[in-house]
Amino acid sequence: MRTEDVRRDIPLLRDHVYLDAASTTPTPLPVVRAMTEYFEEYNANTGRGAYSLVLRATRKLQEAREKVAGFINASSDEIVFTKNTSEAINIVAGGLRFRKGDSVVVPNIEHHSNFLPWLRLRERGVDVRVVKADEGGVVDPGRIEDAVDETTRLVTVTHISNALGTVQDVEEIGRIAHDVGALYLVDAAQSIGHMEVDVRAIGADFAAFPGHKGTLGPVGTGFLYCSTDVQGELEPLMLGGGTVLDVSEDGYVLEDFPAKFEAGTLNIAGFIGLGASIDYMNRIGIRRIQKHGMKMTEELHATVSSIDGIECYGDPQNIYGILSFNINKMDPHDVAKILDETAGICVRSGHHCAIPAMKHLALHETGGTVRASIHYYNTSEEIQLLGETLEEIAGMG
Ligand code: ALA
Repeated sequence: MRTEDVRRDIPLLRDHVYLDAASTTPTPLPVVRAMTEYFEEYNANTGRGAYSLVLRATRKLQEAREKVAGFINASSDEIVFTKNTSEAINIVAGGLRFRKGDSVVVPNIEHHSNFLPWLRLRERGVDVRVVKADEGGVVDPGRIEDAVDETTRLVTVTHISNALGTVQDVEEIGRIAHDVGALYLVDAAQSIGHMEVDVRAIGADFAAFPGHKGTLGPVGTGFLYCSTDVQGELEPLMLGGGTVLDVSEDGYVLEDFPAKFEAGTLNIAGFIGLGASIDYMNRIGIRRIQKHGMKMTEELHATVSSIDGIECYGDPQNIYGILSFNINKMDPHDVAKILDETAGICVRSGHHCAIPAMKHLALHETGGTVRASIHYYNTSEEIQLLGETLEEIAGMG
């Protein structure tokens, strides 16, 4: 599928220049149709009952799990469905049995979702070691190596910074974690669907994913990869329907992985949509998406950074899919509003749920940054329009 074909499947792109894929992506019609089909033809609960609608919904949900697993080179019994990336990370941070004196290593430019759940562990006596990225927003594996020791229970890093777009050396950081016997969690919120993410090649024990960003699935979906080798280390945070094999007045026997982590009725339509979005990804081809993404990133950086009065952030040699910048001393929200009102351009502005990253670059006091982020549906013409509109805005300042 070419970019034009994908654009035809996303009606919203007719009236908007959508440059906010890092936040969420518009859902293509085949994904919407897969969800509509569920509502129209087999709207029933999964794993709860014996009638044919239940069986069909259950089979479709399992197919979705297999598709998601295949997309990241995992097996379906290593996938827990969640409502978003944040939930996936919290399942690990809250579910591992940490002991007083354990340490956790986390960079300082993380999204709050991969920062706060770890910081909170200090209340349980865990030594949370925050590693500073360099000025370009790159996490030097050497600094991770300096921070780990035999007390380190877990190392985590975000594959691509949502605030700066910098790509981290996730394989090397994983090797360092495993060398000291620590577990390794990768936040893949900004890489999944934009580049090949192979959890085995990365060496992740856990990886957290959104369904609604790079994979073009619906909002309200995400998933956790948990390697078979470490599943025994994790306790479920929530118990309820679907999580037990047996219950008596005296106790209960938990289900196997992943069922014991999926309490209650799931977002069935959403995950069926997510399965359809993985089919859609495979129809385009992840390599083709990445090639387009690299071209768009280069164009985005070249266009925006050449405008007088604009300052870009993030090491340009290391960014992918995301560009953060400011114009003169203008408030980022004002810039975003003008882009929208004058040219229908949608970008995110502010601190991007990454206040420590903004503080790291001394941008917090001034309101953060403007952030443009791309996907396969974006075109050179759209980047051009962004550049022209930014030039006009820069001229106002
Ligand atoms: N995590 C999303 C973002 O970076 C919402 O915009």
